Amino acid sequence: MDKKNYYITTPIYYPSGKPHMGHAYSSIIADVFARFKRLDEYNVFFLTGTDEHGLKIQKAAEKNNQKPKEFCDNISKIFFDLTKTLNLSNDDFIRTTEARHHESVKFLWNKLVENNYIYLSKYNGWYSVSDEAYYNEDEIIDRDGKKVSVVSGSIVEWVEEESFFFKLSAFKEKLLKFYSKNPYFILPDSRKNEVISFVKGGLKDLSVSRKSFSWGIKVPNNETHVIYVWLDALTNYLSALNFPNKEDQLYKKFWPASLHIIGKDILRFHAIYWPAFLLAADIEPPNRVYGHGWILSDEKKMSKSKGNILDPLEIIKTYGLDQLRYYLVKEVSLGNDGNISNQNIENCINSDLANNYGNLCQRTLSFAEKNCKGLIPGDISLDDDDKNILNTFSDNLEKIRSLIDSQHLNEYVKFVINRSFDANKYFNDQEPWKKKDNKKRLNTIVYVSLEIVRKISILLSPIMPIVTNKALISLGLNIKDLNIESIKEHLTNKPGTKLRNQGILFKKIDKSDD
Ligand code: ME8
Ligand code: MG
Repeated sequence: MDKKNYYITTPIYYPSGKPHMGHAYSSIIADVFARFKRLDEYNVFFLTGTDEHGLKIQKAAEKNNQKPKEFCDNISKIFFDLTKTLNLSNDDFIRTTEARHHESVKFLWNKLVENNYIYLSKYNGWYSVSDEAYYNEDEIIDRDGKKVSVVSGSIVEWVEEESFFFKLSAFKEKLLKFYSKNPYFILPDSRKNEVISFVKGGLKDLSVSRKSFSWGIKVPNNETHVIYVWLDALTNYLSALNFPNKEDQLYKKFWPASLHIIGKDILRFHAIYWPAFLLAADIEPPNRVYGHGWILSDEKKMSKSKGNILDPLEIIKTYGLDQLRYYLVKEVSLGNDGNISNQNIENCINSDLANNYGNLCQRTLSFAEKNCKGLIPGDISLDDDDKNILNTFSDNLEKIRSLIDSQHLNEYVKFVINRSFDANKYFNDQEPWKKKDNKKRLNTIVYVSLEIVRKISILLSPIMPIVTNKALISLGLNIKDLNIESIKEHLTNKPGTKLRNQGILFKKIDKSDD
Protein backbone atom coordinates (compact mmCIF):
# COMPACT_ATOMS: atom_id res chain seq x y z
CA MET A 1 0.00 0.00 0.00
CA ASP A 2 1.17 3.54 -0.75
CA LYS A 3 2.06 5.51 2.32
CA LYS A 4 0.10 8.65 2.92
CA ASN A 5 2.01 11.92 2.59
CA TYR A 6 2.27 14.69 5.13
CA TYR A 7 4.06 18.01 4.60
CA ILE A 8 4.56 20.25 7.61
CA THR A 9 6.48 23.51 7.92
CA THR A 10 7.62 26.06 10.48
CA PRO A 11 7.93 29.76 9.64
CA ILE A 12 11.32 30.52 8.17
CA TYR A 13 12.89 32.81 10.73
CA TYR A 14 14.62 36.14 10.19
CA PRO A 15 18.30 35.74 10.99
CA SER A 16 18.34 39.33 12.25
CA GLY A 17 19.19 38.27 15.77
CA LYS A 18 19.75 34.98 17.52
CA PRO A 19 16.86 32.60 18.10
CA HIS A 20 14.78 32.76 21.29
CA MET A 21 12.13 30.67 22.99
CA GLY A 22 9.37 31.79 20.59
CA HIS A 23 11.25 30.36 17.62
CA ALA A 24 12.01 27.19 19.56
CA TYR A 25 8.32 26.85 20.39
CA SER A 26 7.08 26.92 16.77
CA SER A 27 9.76 24.45 15.78
CA ILE A 28 9.08 22.03 18.63
CA ILE A 29 5.33 22.06 17.99
CA ALA A 30 5.89 21.28 14.32
CA ASP A 31 8.37 18.56 15.25
CA VAL A 32 5.83 16.84 17.51
CA PHE A 33 3.31 16.63 14.66
CA ALA A 34 5.99 15.47 12.23
CA ARG A 35 7.16 12.74 14.59
CA PHE A 36 3.64 11.56 15.36
CA LYS A 37 2.79 11.28 11.67
CA ARG A 38 6.01 9.40 10.91
CA LEU A 39 5.28 7.03 13.76
CA ASP A 40 1.85 6.57 12.25
CA GLU A 41 3.52 5.46 9.03
CA TYR A 42 3.03 8.58 6.98
CA ASN A 43 5.61 9.76 4.53
CA VAL A 44 6.58 13.00 6.21
CA PHE A 45 8.42 16.02 4.90
CA PHE A 46 9.22 18.53 7.61
CA LEU A 47 10.72 21.86 6.57
CA THR A 48 12.26 24.77 8.45
CA GLY A 49 14.81 27.44 7.56
CA THR A 50 15.69 31.14 7.45
CA ASP A 51 14.20 34.18 5.69
CA GLU A 52 17.18 36.24 4.67
CA HIS A 53 16.20 39.13 2.39
CA GLY A 54 14.63 42.54 2.88
CA LEU A 55 15.30 45.84 4.55
CA LYS A 56 15.18 44.46 8.09
CA ILE A 57 18.08 42.13 7.38
CA GLN A 58 19.97 44.69 5.29
CA LYS A 59 19.78 47.17 8.18
CA ALA A 60 20.78 44.59 10.78
CA ALA A 61 23.82 43.68 8.66
CA GLU A 62 24.78 47.36 8.24
CA LYS A 63 24.60 47.86 11.98
CA ASN A 64 27.08 45.02 12.31
CA ASN A 65 29.32 46.37 9.56
CA GLN A 66 28.86 43.20 7.58
CA LYS A 67 27.72 42.36 4.09
CA PRO A 68 24.17 41.01 4.26
CA LYS A 69 25.14 37.57 2.96
CA GLU A 70 28.01 37.21 5.40
CA PHE A 71 25.75 38.40 8.24
CA CYS A 72 23.06 35.87 7.25
CA ASP A 73 25.56 33.03 6.94
CA ASN A 74 26.55 33.53 10.56
CA ILE A 75 23.10 33.79 12.10
CA SER A 76 21.43 31.26 9.84
CA LYS A 77 24.04 28.82 11.12
CA ILE A 78 22.87 29.50 14.69
CA PHE A 79 19.29 28.68 13.65
CA PHE A 80 20.56 25.57 11.92
CA ASP A 81 22.45 24.51 15.03
CA LEU A 82 19.30 25.05 17.08
CA THR A 83 17.51 22.41 14.98
CA LYS A 84 20.10 19.93 16.30
CA THR A 85 19.93 21.20 19.88
CA LEU A 86 16.14 20.88 19.85
CA ASN A 87 16.42 17.42 18.26
CA LEU A 88 14.16 18.45 15.40
CA SER A 89 13.46 15.79 12.82
CA ASN A 90 13.34 18.23 9.90
CA ASP A 91 14.08 16.81 6.46
CA ASP A 92 15.43 20.03 5.01
CA PHE A 93 16.57 23.48 6.08
CA ILE A 94 15.98 26.13 3.46
CA ARG A 95 17.67 29.50 3.14
CA THR A 96 16.09 32.10 0.90
CA THR A 97 19.56 33.12 -0.32
CA GLU A 98 19.95 29.72 -2.03
CA ALA A 99 19.81 29.49 -5.83
CA ARG A 100 17.04 26.87 -5.74
CA HIS A 101 14.82 29.38 -3.96
CA HIS A 102 15.63 32.30 -6.29
CA GLU A 103 14.63 30.20 -9.25
CA SER A 104 11.33 29.28 -7.75
CA VAL A 105 10.45 32.86 -6.70
CA LYS A 106 11.23 34.20 -10.15
CA PHE A 107 9.10 31.54 -11.73
CA LEU A 108 6.18 32.41 -9.47
CA TRP A 109 6.60 36.12 -10.22
CA ASN A 110 6.58 35.47 -13.97
CA LYS A 111 3.48 33.37 -13.60
CA LEU A 112 1.71 36.20 -11.76
CA VAL A 113 2.74 38.59 -14.55
CA GLU A 114 1.59 36.14 -17.21
CA ASN A 115 -1.80 35.78 -15.50
CA ASN A 116 -2.14 39.55 -15.41
CA TYR A 117 -2.04 40.08 -11.67
CA ILE A 118 0.99 42.43 -11.55
CA TYR A 119 1.14 46.08 -12.61
CA LEU A 120 3.51 49.01 -12.09
CA SER A 121 2.37 52.03 -10.08
CA LYS A 122 3.41 54.07 -7.05
CA TYR A 123 3.13 53.16 -3.35
CA ASN A 124 2.25 55.90 -0.86
CA GLY A 125 1.74 54.56 2.61
CA TRP A 126 3.00 53.15 5.85
CA TYR A 127 5.60 50.43 6.16
CA SER A 128 7.04 48.64 9.17
CA VAL A 129 10.57 47.42 8.62
CA SER A 130 10.44 45.29 11.72
CA ASP A 131 7.34 43.42 10.47
CA GLU A 132 8.23 43.87 6.78
CA ALA A 133 4.56 44.82 6.42
CA TYR A 134 2.39 47.48 4.81
CA TYR A 135 -0.36 48.92 6.97
CA ASN A 136 -3.51 50.85 6.13
CA GLU A 137 -4.07 54.33 7.48
CA ASP A 138 -6.67 53.03 9.96
CA GLU A 139 -4.11 50.61 11.42
CA ILE A 140 -1.74 53.39 12.51
CA ILE A 141 -1.79 55.28 15.81
CA ASP A 142 0.41 57.80 17.60
CA ARG A 143 2.32 56.43 20.57
CA ASP A 144 4.82 58.58 22.47
CA GLY A 145 5.12 60.86 19.46
CA LYS A 146 5.80 57.94 17.12
CA LYS A 147 3.62 56.33 14.48
CA VAL A 148 3.08 52.68 15.24
CA SER A 149 0.97 49.84 13.88
CA VAL A 150 -1.97 48.89 16.10
CA VAL A 151 -1.62 45.35 14.80
CA SER A 152 1.92 44.75 16.05
CA GLY A 153 2.97 47.84 17.96
CA SER A 154 5.95 48.28 15.62
CA ILE A 155 7.15 51.64 14.41
CA VAL A 156 6.11 52.49 10.85
CA GLU A 157 7.62 54.86 8.31
CA TRP A 158 6.06 56.67 5.38
CA VAL A 159 7.09 55.27 2.00
CA GLU A 160 6.60 56.82 -1.42
CA GLU A 161 8.14 55.00 -4.33
CA GLU A 162 7.50 53.32 -7.63
CA SER A 163 6.37 49.79 -7.01
CA PHE A 164 4.88 46.76 -8.66
CA PHE A 165 1.49 45.81 -7.29
CA PHE A 166 -0.29 42.50 -6.96
CA LYS A 167 -4.06 42.68 -7.64
CA LEU A 168 -5.06 41.47 -4.21
CA SER A 169 -8.34 43.41 -4.47
CA ALA A 170 -9.47 40.89 -7.08
CA PHE A 171 -9.33 38.12 -4.44
CA LYS A 172 -11.83 39.25 -1.85
CA GLU A 173 -14.69 37.05 -3.04
CA LYS A 174 -12.41 34.22 -4.15
CA LEU A 175 -10.80 34.04 -0.72
CA LEU A 176 -14.11 34.20 1.13
CA LYS A 177 -15.36 31.37 -1.04
CA PHE A 178 -12.16 29.43 -0.43
CA TYR A 179 -12.49 29.84 3.38
CA SER A 180 -16.09 28.71 3.34
CA LYS A 181 -15.28 25.66 1.20
CA ASN A 182 -12.31 24.84 3.45
CA PRO A 183 -13.59 25.53 6.96
CA TYR A 184 -10.42 24.13 8.56
CA PHE A 185 -7.99 26.10 6.43
CA ILE A 186 -7.35 28.53 9.29
CA LEU A 187 -7.16 27.26 12.84
CA PRO A 188 -7.92 27.91 15.63
CA ASP A 189 -11.40 29.31 14.97
CA SER A 190 -10.77 32.60 16.75
CA ARG A 191 -7.97 33.30 14.25
CA LYS A 192 -10.16 32.30 11.36
CA ASN A 193 -12.80 34.83 12.36
CA GLU A 194 -10.20 37.62 12.53
CA VAL A 195 -9.03 36.82 9.02
CA ILE A 196 -12.49 36.59 7.55
CA SER A 197 -13.58 39.90 8.97
CA PHE A 198 -10.40 41.55 7.71
CA VAL A 199 -11.05 40.22 4.21
CA LYS A 200 -14.71 41.22 4.35
CA GLY A 201 -13.55 44.75 5.17
CA GLY A 202 -12.03 44.86 1.67
CA LEU A 203 -8.57 44.18 0.25
CA LYS A 204 -6.35 46.76 -1.37
CA ASP A 205 -3.80 45.86 -4.02
CA LEU A 206 -0.50 44.90 -2.44
CA SER A 207 2.86 46.48 -3.15
CA VAL A 208 5.14 43.58 -4.06
CA SER A 209 8.41 45.25 -4.94
CA ARG A 210 10.77 47.84 -3.46
CA LYS A 211 13.17 50.19 -5.18
CA SER A 212 14.94 52.00 -2.37
CA PHE A 213 17.24 49.15 -1.32
CA SER A 214 18.84 46.20 -3.03
CA TRP A 215 19.01 43.21 -0.65
CA GLY A 216 16.55 40.82 -2.23
CA ILE A 217 15.63 38.91 -5.35
CA LYS A 218 15.57 41.17 -8.38
CA VAL A 219 12.31 41.55 -10.26
CA PRO A 220 12.71 39.64 -13.55
CA ASN A 221 13.21 42.12 -16.39
CA ASN A 222 13.47 45.09 -14.04
CA GLU A 223 16.63 45.01 -12.00
CA THR A 224 15.88 48.31 -10.25
CA HIS A 225 13.26 46.57 -8.07
CA VAL A 226 13.60 43.78 -5.54
CA ILE A 227 10.68 41.45 -4.86
CA TYR A 228 8.75 42.12 -1.63
CA VAL A 229 10.31 39.94 1.04
CA TRP A 230 7.01 38.25 1.99
CA LEU A 231 6.29 37.13 -1.57
CA ASP A 232 9.86 35.87 -1.60
CA ALA A 233 9.67 34.18 1.84
CA LEU A 234 6.32 32.42 1.45
CA THR A 235 7.57 30.76 -1.70
CA ASN A 236 10.11 28.81 0.38
CA TYR A 237 7.39 26.23 1.01
CA LEU A 238 7.44 25.49 -2.73
CA SER A 239 11.15 25.88 -3.41
CA ALA A 240 12.03 23.13 -0.96
CA LEU A 241 9.93 20.75 -3.08
CA ASN A 242 11.88 21.72 -6.21
CA PHE A 243 9.08 23.83 -7.62
CA PRO A 244 8.73 24.86 -10.48
CA ASN A 245 9.57 21.33 -11.52
CA LYS A 246 6.07 19.94 -11.05
CA GLU A 247 7.23 16.51 -12.15
CA ASP A 248 9.60 16.35 -9.22
CA GLN A 249 8.76 13.58 -6.74
CA LEU A 250 8.86 15.94 -3.78
CA TYR A 251 6.43 18.36 -5.38
CA LYS A 252 4.13 15.60 -6.53
CA LYS A 253 4.05 13.92 -3.15
CA PHE A 254 3.97 16.87 -0.83
CA TRP A 255 2.16 19.79 -2.43
CA PRO A 256 -0.29 21.10 -1.23
CA ALA A 257 1.24 21.33 2.24
CA SER A 258 -0.69 19.62 5.01
CA LEU A 259 0.08 22.17 7.69
CA HIS A 260 1.89 25.47 8.07
CA ILE A 261 2.63 26.06 11.76
CA ILE A 262 3.05 29.79 12.40
CA GLY A 263 2.67 32.36 15.15
CA LYS A 264 -0.41 34.57 15.19
CA ASP A 265 1.72 37.60 14.19
CA ILE A 266 2.10 36.33 10.65
CA LEU A 267 -1.41 35.10 10.01
CA ARG A 268 -2.32 37.80 7.49
CA PHE A 269 0.58 36.78 5.27
CA HIS A 270 -0.20 33.07 5.42
CA ALA A 271 -3.98 33.10 5.40
CA ILE A 272 -4.61 35.97 2.97
CA TYR A 273 -1.60 36.82 0.81
CA TRP A 274 -0.30 33.27 0.41
CA PRO A 275 -3.50 31.61 -0.86
CA ALA A 276 -4.15 34.67 -3.06
CA PHE A 277 -0.69 34.42 -4.68
CA LEU A 278 -1.20 30.71 -5.21
CA LEU A 279 -4.70 31.00 -6.64
CA ALA A 280 -3.41 33.73 -8.95
CA ALA A 281 -0.68 31.37 -10.16
CA ASP A 282 -3.05 28.40 -10.61
CA ILE A 283 -1.43 26.52 -7.72
CA GLU A 284 -3.46 24.78 -5.06
CA PRO A 285 -3.30 26.52 -1.64
CA PRO A 286 -2.12 24.57 1.40
CA ASN A 287 -4.57 22.52 3.46
CA ARG A 288 -4.12 24.32 6.73
CA VAL A 289 -2.52 27.24 8.52
CA TYR A 290 -2.40 27.01 12.31
CA GLY A 291 -1.64 30.26 14.14
CA HIS A 292 -0.38 29.59 17.65
CA GLY A 293 -0.17 32.12 20.47
CA TRP A 294 2.70 33.91 22.16
CA ILE A 295 5.17 32.51 24.62
CA LEU A 296 5.32 35.01 27.44
CA SER A 297 8.19 35.39 29.82
CA ASP A 298 6.87 35.88 33.35
CA GLU A 299 3.47 36.94 31.93
CA LYS A 300 4.98 39.53 29.58
CA LYS A 301 5.73 39.52 25.89
CA MET A 302 9.43 38.96 25.31
CA SER A 303 11.24 42.01 24.08
CA LYS A 304 14.79 43.27 23.95
CA SER A 305 13.83 46.49 25.74
CA LYS A 306 12.25 44.60 28.66
CA GLY A 307 15.32 42.38 28.80
CA ASN A 308 13.17 39.29 29.29
CA ILE A 309 14.13 37.31 26.21
CA LEU A 310 14.13 33.65 27.09
CA ASP A 311 17.04 31.67 25.76
CA PRO A 312 16.04 28.07 25.05
CA LEU A 313 19.66 26.95 25.52
CA GLU A 314 19.69 28.10 29.14
CA ILE A 315 16.45 26.32 29.98
CA ILE A 316 17.70 23.16 28.30
CA LYS A 317 20.92 23.36 30.29
CA THR A 318 19.01 23.69 33.55
CA TYR A 319 16.12 21.27 33.01
CA GLY A 320 16.87 19.12 29.95
CA LEU A 321 15.59 19.16 26.40
CA ASP A 322 12.76 16.67 26.67
CA GLN A 323 11.58 18.42 29.82
CA LEU A 324 11.36 21.73 27.95
CA ARG A 325 9.59 20.10 25.01
CA TYR A 326 7.08 18.46 27.34
CA TYR A 327 6.43 21.68 29.19
CA LEU A 328 5.76 23.66 26.01
CA VAL A 329 3.38 21.07 24.65
CA LYS A 330 1.53 20.34 27.88
CA GLU A 331 1.37 23.66 29.67
CA VAL A 332 1.05 26.16 26.84
CA SER A 333 -2.40 25.96 25.32
CA LEU A 334 -1.74 25.80 21.58
CA GLY A 335 -3.51 28.75 19.99
CA ASN A 336 -3.40 30.85 23.16
CA ASP A 337 -0.63 32.75 24.85
CA GLY A 338 1.27 30.83 27.47
CA ASN A 339 3.73 31.64 30.14
CA ILE A 340 7.11 30.21 31.00
CA SER A 341 8.72 30.64 34.38
CA ASN A 342 11.13 28.45 36.30
CA GLN A 343 8.44 27.85 38.89
CA ASN A 344 6.00 26.51 36.27
CA ILE A 345 8.58 24.32 34.60
CA GLU A 346 9.67 22.85 37.92
CA ASN A 347 6.10 22.11 38.97
CA CYS A 348 5.39 20.44 35.66
CA ILE A 349 8.53 18.30 35.72
CA ASN A 350 7.87 17.14 39.26
CA SER A 351 4.19 16.40 38.92
CA ASP A 352 3.95 14.94 35.43
CA LEU A 353 7.38 13.57 34.70
CA ALA A 354 9.16 12.64 37.92
CA ASN A 355 6.13 11.64 40.02
CA ASN A 356 3.92 10.30 37.28
CA TYR A 357 5.40 8.90 34.05
CA GLY A 358 8.96 8.53 35.40
CA ASN A 359 7.71 6.90 38.57
CA LEU A 360 5.58 4.44 36.62
CA CYS A 361 8.54 3.35 34.52
CA GLN A 362 10.90 3.11 37.45
CA ARG A 363 8.66 1.25 39.88
CA THR A 364 7.44 -1.35 37.38
CA LEU A 365 10.92 -2.03 36.05
CA SER A 366 12.57 -2.31 39.43
CA PHE A 367 9.73 -4.47 40.76
CA ALA A 368 10.13 -6.77 37.76
CA GLU A 369 13.88 -6.91 38.26
CA LYS A 370 13.44 -8.02 41.84
CA ASN A 371 10.46 -10.32 41.45
CA CYS A 372 10.50 -11.61 37.88
CA LYS A 373 14.23 -12.38 37.49
CA GLY A 374 14.68 -9.23 35.43
CA LEU A 375 12.61 -10.69 32.61
CA ILE A 376 9.29 -9.79 31.07
CA PRO A 377 7.12 -12.41 32.77
CA GLY A 378 5.15 -15.08 30.93
CA ASP A 379 2.44 -17.27 32.48
CA ILE A 380 -0.21 -14.60 32.92
CA SER A 381 -3.97 -14.45 32.93
CA LEU A 382 -5.82 -11.17 32.33
CA ASP A 383 -8.82 -10.36 34.52
CA ASP A 384 -11.34 -7.57 33.89
CA ASP A 385 -9.28 -4.87 35.61
CA ASP A 386 -6.32 -5.75 33.45
CA LYS A 387 -8.35 -5.78 30.27
CA ASN A 388 -10.04 -2.49 31.10
CA ILE A 389 -6.87 -0.57 31.60
CA LEU A 390 -5.32 -2.02 28.44
CA ASN A 391 -8.46 -1.34 26.44
CA THR A 392 -8.35 2.40 27.10
CA PHE A 393 -5.57 2.51 24.51
CA SER A 394 -7.08 0.37 21.78
CA ASP A 395 -10.54 1.91 22.27
CA ASN A 396 -9.14 5.41 21.91
CA LEU A 397 -6.73 4.95 19.03
CA GLU A 398 -8.95 6.79 16.55
CA LYS A 399 -9.59 9.55 19.04
CA ILE A 400 -5.84 9.91 19.57
CA ARG A 401 -5.27 10.25 15.85
CA SER A 402 -8.03 12.78 15.46
CA LEU A 403 -6.69 14.91 18.33
CA ILE A 404 -3.43 15.16 16.41
CA ASP A 405 -5.11 15.78 13.07
CA SER A 406 -7.12 18.64 14.55
CA GLN A 407 -4.04 20.00 16.39
CA HIS A 408 -5.58 19.42 19.82
CA LEU A 409 -2.13 18.87 21.19
CA ASN A 410 -2.89 19.71 24.81
CA GLU A 411 -5.80 17.27 24.91
CA TYR A 412 -3.56 14.64 23.37
CA VAL A 413 -0.89 14.95 26.03
CA LYS A 414 -3.48 15.15 28.79
CA PHE A 415 -5.04 11.95 27.56
CA VAL A 416 -1.68 10.20 27.63
CA ILE A 417 -0.53 11.51 30.99
CA ASN A 418 -3.87 10.51 32.50
CA ARG A 419 -3.23 6.97 31.33
CA SER A 420 0.03 7.11 33.25
CA PHE A 421 -1.79 8.36 36.32
CA ASP A 422 -4.29 5.49 35.99
CA ALA A 423 -1.48 2.98 35.61
CA ASN A 424 0.19 4.17 38.81
CA LYS A 425 -3.15 3.83 40.55
CA TYR A 426 -3.60 0.34 39.09
CA PHE A 427 -0.19 -0.67 40.40
CA ASN A 428 -1.03 0.69 43.87
CA ASP A 429 -4.48 -0.88 43.97
CA GLN A 430 -3.29 -4.25 42.74
CA GLU A 431 -0.52 -4.34 45.37
CA PRO A 432 1.71 -6.80 43.51
CA TRP A 433 4.12 -6.82 46.49
CA LYS A 434 1.43 -8.73 48.41
CA LYS A 435 1.09 -11.33 45.67
CA LYS A 436 4.33 -13.20 46.20
CA ASP A 437 2.37 -16.39 46.86
CA ASN A 438 0.37 -16.01 43.70
CA LYS A 439 3.03 -15.90 41.04
CA LYS A 440 0.58 -15.87 38.18
CA ARG A 441 -1.22 -12.80 39.52
CA LEU A 442 2.05 -11.04 40.30
CA ASN A 443 3.30 -11.80 36.80
CA THR A 444 0.09 -10.51 35.27
CA ILE A 445 0.22 -7.19 37.13
CA VAL A 446 3.83 -6.70 36.12
CA TYR A 447 3.12 -7.70 32.55
CA VAL A 448 0.18 -5.31 32.25
CA SER A 449 2.17 -2.48 33.82
CA LEU A 450 5.07 -3.00 31.42
CA GLU A 451 2.64 -3.07 28.50
CA ILE A 452 1.31 0.29 29.61
CA VAL A 453 4.82 1.67 29.94
CA ARG A 454 5.36 0.58 26.34
CA LYS A 455 2.18 2.20 25.05
CA ILE A 456 2.61 5.45 26.95
CA SER A 457 6.25 5.71 25.90
CA ILE A 458 5.25 5.32 22.26
CA LEU A 459 2.59 8.01 22.60
CA LEU A 460 4.93 10.40 24.41
CA SER A 461 7.83 9.78 22.03
CA PRO A 462 6.90 12.55 19.55
CA ILE A 463 7.17 14.98 22.47
CA MET A 464 10.12 13.48 24.36
CA PRO A 465 12.01 11.34 21.84
CA ILE A 466 15.10 10.73 23.92
CA VAL A 467 13.73 9.88 27.34
CA THR A 468 10.88 7.74 26.05
CA ASN A 469 13.31 5.71 24.00
CA LYS A 470 15.26 4.98 27.17
CA ALA A 471 12.08 3.53 28.64
CA LEU A 472 11.56 1.45 25.51
CA ILE A 473 15.16 0.26 25.53
CA SER A 474 14.53 -0.93 29.09
CA LEU A 475 11.88 -3.21 27.59
CA GLY A 476 14.22 -4.47 24.90
CA LEU A 477 12.54 -2.30 22.28
CA ASN A 478 13.42 0.70 20.15
CA ILE A 479 11.14 3.41 18.82
CA LYS A 480 12.48 2.99 15.31
CA ASP A 481 10.85 -0.45 15.11
CA LEU A 482 7.51 0.67 16.53
CA ASN A 483 4.43 2.50 15.30
CA ILE A 484 1.28 4.12 16.68
CA GLU A 485 -0.89 1.23 15.58
CA SER A 486 0.98 -1.09 17.95
CA ILE A 487 -0.59 0.50 21.03
CA LYS A 488 -3.69 -1.41 20.03
CA GLU A 489 -2.21 -4.80 20.77
CA HIS A 490 -2.20 -6.05 24.33
CA LEU A 491 0.52 -8.60 24.27
CA THR A 492 3.41 -7.22 22.35
CA ASN A 493 6.10 -7.35 25.00
CA LYS A 494 7.73 -10.74 24.62
CA PRO A 495 7.80 -12.89 27.75
CA GLY A 496 11.34 -13.85 28.62
CA THR A 497 12.85 -10.64 27.24
CA LYS A 498 15.63 -9.39 29.47
CA LEU A 499 14.83 -6.03 31.03
CA ARG A 500 17.54 -3.44 30.74
CA ASN A 501 16.59 -0.76 33.19
CA GLN A 502 18.11 2.53 32.04
CA GLY A 503 17.74 4.12 35.48
CA ILE A 504 15.83 7.16 36.70
CA LEU A 505 14.32 9.02 33.74
CA PHE A 506 13.54 12.33 35.44
CA LYS A 507 15.18 13.74 38.50
CA LYS A 508 12.78 15.35 40.87
CA ILE A 509 13.62 19.02 41.34
CA ASP A 510 14.26 19.99 44.89
CA LYS A 511 12.41 23.24 45.41
CA SER A 512 13.20 23.70 49.07
CA ASP A 513 15.49 26.65 48.32
CA ASP A 514 12.85 28.92 46.77
O1 ME8 B 1 8.02 36.49 10.91
N1 ME8 B 1 5.98 33.27 21.07
O2 ME8 B 1 10.13 35.59 11.15
P1 ME8 B 1 10.42 35.84 12.70
C1 ME8 B 1 5.68 32.31 20.19
N2 ME8 B 1 10.50 35.57 8.58
N3 ME8 B 1 6.19 32.27 18.96
C2 ME8 B 1 7.03 33.23 18.59
C3 ME8 B 1 7.40 34.28 19.47
C4 ME8 B 1 6.83 34.26 20.77
N4 ME8 B 1 7.11 35.16 21.69
N5 ME8 B 1 8.25 35.08 18.82
C5 ME8 B 1 8.44 34.54 17.58
C6 ME8 B 1 9.04 36.01 10.45
N6 ME8 B 1 7.70 33.42 17.45
C7 ME8 B 1 9.14 35.70 8.97
C8 ME8 B 1 8.36 34.44 8.68
S1 ME8 B 1 7.43 32.57 7.00
C9 ME8 B 1 7.28 32.42 5.34
C10 ME8 B 1 8.33 34.04 7.23
C11 ME8 B 1 7.66 32.52 16.30
O3 ME8 B 1 11.86 35.53 12.89
C12 ME8 B 1 6.27 32.50 15.67
O4 ME8 B 1 6.10 31.34 14.91
O5 ME8 B 1 9.93 37.16 13.13
C13 ME8 B 1 6.35 33.67 14.74
O6 ME8 B 1 5.37 33.61 13.73
C14 ME8 B 1 7.74 33.49 14.19
O7 ME8 B 1 8.52 33.03 15.29
C15 ME8 B 1 8.27 34.79 13.63
O8 ME8 B 1 9.61 34.67 13.41
MG1 MG C 1 8.97 38.75 13.99
